[in-house]
Amino acid sequence: MHPLQCVLQVQRSLGWGPLASVSWLSLRMCRAHSSLSSTMCPSPERQEDGARKDFSSRLAAGPTFQHFLKSASAPQEKLSSEVEDPPPYLMMDELLGRQRKVYLETYGCQMNVNDTEIAWSILQKSGYLRTSNLQEADVILLVTCSIREKAEQTIWNRLHQLKALKTRRPRSRVPLRIGILGCMAERLKEEILNREKMVDILAGPDAYRDLPRLLAVAESGQQAANVLLSLDETYADVMPVQTSASATSAFVSIMRGCDNMCSYCIVPFTRGRERSRPIASILEEVKKLSEQGLKEVTLLGQNVNSFRDNSEVQFNSAVPTNLSRGFTTNYKTKQGGLRFAHLLDQVSRVDPEMRIRFTSPHPKDFPDEVLQLIHERDNICKQIHLPAQSGSSRVLEAMRRGYSREAYVELVHHIRESIPGVSLSSDFIAGFCGETEEDHVQTVSLLREVQYNMGFLFAYSMRQKTRAYHRLKDDVPEEVKLRRLEELITIFREEATKANQTSVGCTQLVLVEGAGLKLLGSSDSPASASQLSKRSATDLCGRNDGNLKVIFPDAEMEDVNNPGLRVRAQPGDYVLVKITSASSQTLRGHVLCRTTLRDSSAYC
Ligand code: 5AD
Ligand code: SF4
Repeated sequence: MHPLQCVLQVQRSLGWGPLASVSWLSLRMCRAHSSLSSTMCPSPERQEDGARKDFSSRLAAGPTFQHFLKSASAPQEKLSSEVEDPPPYLMMDELLGRQRKVYLETYGCQMNVNDTEIAWSILQKSGYLRTSNLQEADVILLVTCSIREKAEQTIWNRLHQLKALKTRRPRSRVPLRIGILGCMAERLKEEILNREKMVDILAGPDAYRDLPRLLAVAESGQQAANVLLSLDETYADVMPVQTSASATSAFVSIMRGCDNMCSYCIVPFTRGRERSRPIASILEEVKKLSEQGLKEVTLLGQNVNSFRDNSEVQFNSAVPTNLSRGFTTNYKTKQGGLRFAHLLDQVSRVDPEMRIRFTSPHPKDFPDEVLQLIHERDNICKQIHLPAQSGSSRVLEAMRRGYSREAYVELVHHIRESIPGVSLSSDFIAGFCGETEEDHVQTVSLLREVQYNMGFLFAYSMRQKTRAYHRLKDDVPEEVKLRRLEELITIFREEATKANQTSVGCTQLVLVEGAGLKLLGSSDSPASASQLSKRSATDLCGRNDGNLKVIFPDAEMEDVNNPGLRVRAQPGDYVLVKITSASSQTLRGHVLCRTTLRDSSAYC
């Protein structure tokens, strides 16, 4: 075992607290691979041995100070088409993928799906190939989540399975490399390398540009990590490779990180400080997606509506920030920059046939200009995610959410007045530190009062580093957390069913995504039974403006723009559907006609 070589890298700007203004980047030697072979021809591992020795001596010479200065330059200055210059201890061709196959597996939220596309875009440019077959992979990368303990446990379990794959790998193949990307790499850092020796690389959420280098180091049999957080990395110039099968909709990342420091949340520690992508590059991506025929874009970020593009100097005057009434921030008020309302306005003008959604917002950043715009623009969906987390003002204060129950409820009323028919969803945490039965009852009553259309409910999971970990006691027993969670789920479902049933009898605009449930019915003709039933009994599914799934039988219909023409709905079509039934998660109906977003106005 060679000694640990660790280089401390000082980030350009010193930020606050444990978000690591000083972070680390380490290259470390791992166990030597056995290279014994009984044949005259050197095994791939033996061939690599020479290269590894050569690499070790180059590494011993070490990266220079100049190299670190260079690698700390602003990422947005680099062109996406450029493959990075190699550091002094690597040759240019060692940075290239040389047709090695990468298998990417994503865990957690939509941000991670987007990160997977960014990571893949970077690796593709370096000459890697992608595979969806695990057995074929030369590199396996897990894009991980740390938000709750359970999410991390899933990854540890997966790593145990992958370990078997690595040890069983025939010597005739290049050694399998395994990497942990994203939040878990950032949170646990070298603990992962120590605990699971078969992990070769770690890359935090701001280090994906470094993947070719990390993999090149791993090729030489060493572990490599970059968990440096950045103040300005937005991957603005990296065009994510969209891999969704339906290709009717896409996610566009507009900002990264979070400054809110809610007391329970690990995100500010794993994803770093809030920073926004310049508007020009967002618009460019949305235009490209529109040209590709996509019909829906979801603007993505940890706090989308806190968006603030400071890249254009002329907009950096000291204009104060309007917050939602009764809401405060945990940080010093920010000023200037182009805000979310401006971005939303610009994005919604790109293509009037393209639906615009956004997730996940913070309730504090809904000034009237944002609500007004959502109301006015036909193609901005009337759907707002409004994470409440708790219905008790006492718990909200302990969570450091910056609002009381009353302010939240007032905002809900204000939103409903400003955007009639708006669909609301929320996140809730059951069993936060110090939550009493009375607090829980308050949350239940908020669910009843607001009657959300969709909800995401979680049992509290204590995370190290957070304020709650340091200052509060995780004192609600696990079984009580789960019982409260169950109660919240039951009540949420009852209320969502009621809310969704108000759509029955209405005609709604649905963006078709593809096949719905396949109902395998019986047939008189045994020979063709399965084919017939598969084809004729297929339902289609799509989403209404509120993002609720709508299922309807695949039937011929009229095309409003081509009278007399009978058509069947295809993915990416807008159709009008008469709603006939509703549950807590789905609407059902029958299709009336094919139309366009502009031609349809709110029906009900
Ligand atoms: N435990 C449980 N749920 C959490 N969330 C964030 N941190 C935790 C935690 N420690 C939930 C919040 C947030 C959603 C993305 O995950 O509800 O809005
Ligand atoms: Fe976490 Fe709060 Fe930031 Fe959301 S707003 S990511 S819950 S710290």
